[in-house]
Amino acid sequence: MKLIHTASEMRAWSLARKAAGQTVGFVPTMGALHEGHASLMRAARARDDAAVLSVFVNPTQFGPEEDYDRYPRTWEADQAMAVDIGMDAIYVPDAREMYPEGYATYVMVEGVSSGLCSRTRPHFFRGVATVVTKLLNAVLPDRAYFGQKDGQQCAVIRRMARDLDMGVEIVEMPTVREPDGLAMSSRNKYLSAEERKRALCLSRSLFAARARLDAGERDGAALLDLVREGMAGVTIDYVELVDADSMCPVDRVRGRVMLAVAALVGNARLIDNIMFTPPECAG
Ligand code: PAF
Repeated sequence: MKLIHTASEMRAWSLARKAAGQTVGFVPTMGALHEGHASLMRAARARDDAAVLSVFVNPTQFGPEEDYDRYPRTWEADQAMAVDIGMDAIYVPDAREMYPEGYATYVMVEGVSSGLCSRTRPHFFRGVATVVTKLLNAVLPDRAYFGQKDGQQCAVIRRMARDLDMGVEIVEMPTVREPDGLAMSSRNKYLSAEERKRALCLSRSLFAARARLDAGERDGAALLDLVREGMAGVTIDYVELVDADSMCPVDRVRGRVMLAVAALVGNARLIDNIMFTPPECAG
């Protein structure tokens, strides 16, 4: 497996693969890899001829009071997982190369970046859109793989790739969960045993809402109340029902929607969501 540190070396590597008629699949991450990331890497490995992982804890998507410094860094284990899955290359850019002295260019995706996570993390999607653009410009992938757990992030990146004619297919993969339902996240490492138990209320409330949706409930307020009641033991950031593409709030389920939650459990800010398309609207 090739270890690559600069954008120019990364581009040369990908261009050589493409010249040989291969497709390049790309999994961008901030490291601290878990089974969710492994599922993205396996998908890239299975679907594309050459598979690239990136590991970069991106400073521009963290606010000044957030966990950039203490974000888990598990480089040895990350590398071992990538080797085990059979990734062909890991791109590990240096922060000074990514954001050199005088750096001044940012990507803002309007509309879809508003609300939900932006309310408490106003800097977040500007940082994500910017770094993903830079990573895509270096890796030049045919497909890039993201997890549905970061539902708004997926919507922002899809919109950006379409609007800027990036020529990359954005593949959204299902959320991977622990056996008890907790969505896998690098930030789960922050949870104590007691907090981890309390964190289960996020997925449990969403699953209860899904059961109501399956039973025919279409009223947004009823669904939001149900989820909020289920999350009484944690500090809710938001509980929202939104259109799955535009991320605009909806008061009734009339098409594909995302029911999304964010909460503070101890020091960890956790997010989770479910997607739902009413059978009467499918196909
Ligand atoms: O989802 C993540 O891990 C990050 O937001 C991403 C897409 C790698 C950008 O830093």
